[in-house]
Amino acid sequence: MIELMNIRKTYYGKDIETNVLKGVNLTVASGEFVCIYGSSGSGKSTLLNIIGLIDQASEGEYLLDGVDINQLKDKQKAAIRNQRIGFVFQAYHLIQEMNVLENIVVPLGYAGISKKERIKRAQELLNEFHMEHLKSKHISQLSGGEQQRISIMRALSNKPEILLADEPTGNLDSENSKKVMEILNHLNKKGMTIIMVTHDLSLAEYGSRIIHIEDGKIVER
Ligand SMILES: Nc1ncnc2c1ncn2[C@@H]1O[C@H](COP(=O)(O)OP(=O)(O)OP(=O)(O)O)[C@@H](O)[C@H]1O
Ligand SMILES: [Mg+2]
Repeated sequence: MIELMNIRKTYYGKDIETNVLKGVNLTVASGEFVCIYGSSGSGKSTLLNIIGLIDQASEGEYLLDGVDINQLKDKQKAAIRNQRIGFVFQAYHLIQEMNVLENIVVPLGYAGISKKERIKRAQELLNEFHMEHLKSKHISQLSGGEQQRISIMRALSNKPEILLADEPTGNLDSENSKKVMEILNHLNKKGMTIIMVTHDLSLAEYGSRIIHIEDGKIVER
């Protein structure tokens, strides 16, 4: 269970303070598929990064399964991020110098899992997603849709309980978008908690609940 209470985020620039999140309250139970919907600049990525422990709130409380995240050391947060949370980024963030198979299991390397096990896990994912034929390709040789699916596999490599996806279809055509949404649906049906960010209401409707964020605040549930 994810519980956010009065989350605020302020960026401090040279002469300017930007209040990006202005008191967000949100609870997501395990097994939910929540879509956070809002226009560009409304604070969606900022909120998702806080949930994914990539960034920290300026104020407010965040409990993950009852554990107060603000009380954890960086190392403990990194371990949670690595073992329990999968993150699909708005801009893929794949490593260009590595091939597909190597990219998929990057998180397993951080977790100290042996090369043999890593390759086995990558093969499983490539089979499950019917992308076996791409395993030796380099990232620059892939289409956008393929890159997005590889980045989803990477997020799944550690078998996370929670999958966070920031505009996972942002750069895709409607056919590839549909494929990605079907993957997310399938994962959710198997029990994974999913939080997806989008500015497209038609995609948000795939979720079991839509949260509307506007100007750093949740405006309706
Ligand atoms: N490091 C930063 N310093 C100052 N302002 C920032 C910083 N990061 C983000 N912002 C501002 O915070 C606001 C929200 O940004 P955020 O990336 O969360 O929006 P978003 O809803 O994800 O938008 P998009 O749909 O375009 O991805 C924006 O106005 C942005 O300019
Ligand atoms: Mg964003």
